[in-house]
Amino acid sequence: MKTVEKIADMKRLRQQLTGDIGFVPTMGYLHEGHLSLVRQAKTENPSIVVSIFVNPTQFGPQEDFKNYPRDTKRDLTMLEKEKTDIVFMPSVTEMYPPGFSSWVEVEKLTRQLEGASRPGHFRGVTTVVAKLFNIVQPTRAYFGQKDAQQIAVISKMAADLDMNTEVIALPTIREPDGLAMSSRNTYLNPAERRAATILYHALTLAQKLWFEGERNAERLRQQMTDLIQREPLATVDYVSIANSKTLDELEIVTPPVLLSMAVKIGKTRLIDNIVFR
Ligand code: PAF
Repeated sequence: MKTVEKIADMKRLRQQLTGDIGFVPTMGYLHEGHLSLVRQAKTENPSIVVSIFVNPTQFGPQEDFKNYPRDTKRDLTMLEKEKTDIVFMPSVTEMYPPGFSSWVEVEKLTRQLEGASRPGHFRGVTTVVAKLFNIVQPTRAYFGQKDAQQIAVISKMAADLDMNTEVIALPTIREPDGLAMSSRNTYLNPAERRAATILYHALTLAQKLWFEGERNAERLRQQMTDLIQREPLATVDYVSIANSKTLDELEIVTPPVLLSMAVKIGKTRLIDNIVFR
C-alpha cells in the first residue's frame, strides 16, 4: 500500500495504474461502514484508492472541524488489511493553497434537509469531491447511503459536469442495536449511546406504520417526532418524508421516498435515513 500526501504524487501514481479504479473518499476515523465501501470497490475494480481528508470547507463555524476524530495510524492499518493500493492524505494547504477561490455548487437539491440546517456544507462537499475526482480520476466512487442527500448532490454534480466517474451508493452499516455507524458516534457517552438508537426506532416505527397502510406524510412525521421527543437526551433538528429524487417534502407517501432525520443526542448531531422504493 502506498500513501501519498502531494497532489502531484497522487496524479503520477494514477497515471501508472491501468484498468478501472475504485475510489472511496473519507474523512478518516474509519469504521465498518467505510470498510464495506472499500470491500465492494475491491470486488469491482482492480485498483483501489482511498482518500483521508478532513475537509474544513464543509464544516460550519460552530461545527466540529477541530475536534473531528482523527487516527491516521489506525486508519492505515485497517486499509492495509483491506489491500488498498493507494491512500491519498493531503494536508489542508495542499488542497486549499493560499488564494484558492473556485467552488462547485449544486443548486436546488442542496436547499433542503442538511443543506438547510448546515449552510455552505454541500458547497464544501462538492468542491472537495470534484477536486478529488480530478486528482484521482476514478472509474467508480463509493459512498454510504447514510449520507443520502450527499449522494444525491454528488450524483447530480457528476452528471451535470460530465464527470467520468460513476457514483455508487451502498447500504448503511448499522450496529447490532440499529445505530447507523458514524465516526461521530465516538462523541457519545454511554447514556447518549443508548439514547442514540432512537433515530433507528423512529425510522422503523414509520416503516411499520407505512406497511400497515399509513400514507399521510404529516402524520408519519408527527409520530416519528413524538417518539424522538420522548427521549430526554434527544433534540430534533428535522424529520423529513421527501421524494428521494427531488428531496421535496411529500403530503402523500408515494415511493420512492426518503425518510430522513437529524437529531442531536446531547451535543452530538446524528443523521439517519431509510428509503421506501
Ligand atoms: O462523507 C464524507 O466523509 C465526506 O463528506 C466526503 C465525501 C469524504 C467529502 O469530504
